[in-house]
Amino acid sequence: MTQTSHPALAGQPHFHLQDGTLHAEGVALDRLVAEHGTPLYVYSRAALAEAYGRYSDAVNGRDVVVCYGMKANSNLAVLKEFARLGAGFDIVSGGELQRVLAVGADPAKIVFSGVGKQAWEMQTALKAGVKSFNVESEAELRLLSLVAEAEGKRAPVSLRVNPDVDAQTHPYISTGLKENKFGIAIEDAPEVYRLAKSLANIDIVGVDCHIGSQLIDISPYLDALDKLLDLVDGLKRDGIEIHHLDIGGGLGIRYTDETPPSPKTLLDQVFDRLDARGYGHLQIVMEPGRSLVGNAGILLTTVQFLKHAEARNFAIVDAAMNDLLRPALYQAWHGVVPVKPRLGAVQIYDIVGPICESGDWLAKQRPLVLAQGDVLAVESAGAYGMVMAGNYNSRVRPAEIMVDGEQSHVVRKRETLEMLTAGESVLPD
Ligand code: LLP
Repeated sequence: MTQTSHPALAGQPHFHLQDGTLHAEGVALDRLVAEHGTPLYVYSRAALAEAYGRYSDAVNGRDVVVCYGMKANSNLAVLKEFARLGAGFDIVSGGELQRVLAVGADPAKIVFSGVGKQAWEMQTALKAGVKSFNVESEAELRLLSLVAEAEGKRAPVSLRVNPDVDAQTHPYISTGLKENKFGIAIEDAPEVYRLAKSLANIDIVGVDCHIGSQLIDISPYLDALDKLLDLVDGLKRDGIEIHHLDIGGGLGIRYTDETPPSPKTLLDQVFDRLDARGYGHLQIVMEPGRSLVGNAGILLTTVQFLKHAEARNFAIVDAAMNDLLRPALYQAWHGVVPVKPRLGAVQIYDIVGPICESGDWLAKQRPLVLAQGDVLAVESAGAYGMVMAGNYNSRVRPAEIMVDGEQSHVVRKRETLEMLTAGESVLPD
């Protein structure tokens, strides 16, 4: 079998083959590699805008706040792009808050999620004036009330409830089940809301949930929504009115042949349910991460060596699990395509990194025509790629590039070996 044509990148129309070379928008990727080396993350600005547009077009005149789940990719250039487009942000730490404030995000559109917020993080977020603290336990609520009192402020609060629905996704990224650490069990929520109402420095503003990530079916959302609305019914009877319903993030993307629902399909059904139950007036907050950035990025890596062992052919590349952890951690599937496809005999390769772990692989059993020195693009690496990168084996983290039409911008420089040891010291002799 020979490979003559280039398989299209699943779900990534802004990365395409032109004159025998893979391009990001109008920029040839071999040119970027010549200039910046590999491993290299490359993002498409147009793909970010298009992904955000799918959400803004789905809003349909309703009161919806799209808070980008920035844990998926927190590069300042990405954040700035979404801030420009009018997005809000879903943050989970003081560090993330600092990043979004640095790009001029509107604090009134920031929701603060996370199961273990610390007092200093609450304090900074109160000072900034965030839209909502998504509170995940009674203990957190009590601490927040104390911090707010000390600051002379009132903390806007939504309780993150755990609706006990199965998101039917990978167990590591499923969050809405009883055995998960997240949220307050839905049956305990009324009592915690009554407590919130009794605390002097707390304002109840909403109800929040997030059931998991890479969801490719709408039904878990609708099951969770029904349970949330039952809760809102009960709260009303207790004299507690809420202003918004936060349905979390989680919409999946196409990595290979998945067909996830569009934001419009999801929102249309959400609006129908709300209307049917007399809650058409409620503001909807969403926290999408992956579906805004996942298919806006790729990871470029160079084939260092080919190794033809008895049981396997290995392509040993210069990117590793420290650069893109998803395959090692979740056995996640990412497409791999050559930047300059060549003619020749197809062989089945495992694409592996240089780290001293058998779990250090990026893709397994892929039919490819390869030679040493070829550059490969690992697809759909815009979400949970660079943000999960580390320095294992004293490897520097990659550079990141944002392409904008014919232009490319370094949006994060490659780390240097000096940076790796900068904060370290040895004991005196
Ligand atoms: N909101 C909350 C409270 C979350 O915990 C998450 C993701 C999101 C929103 C955004 O979810 P998304 O729209 O991206 O699915 N590292 C894993 C994914 C972890 C997701 C964690 N929470 C991966 O690489 O698949």
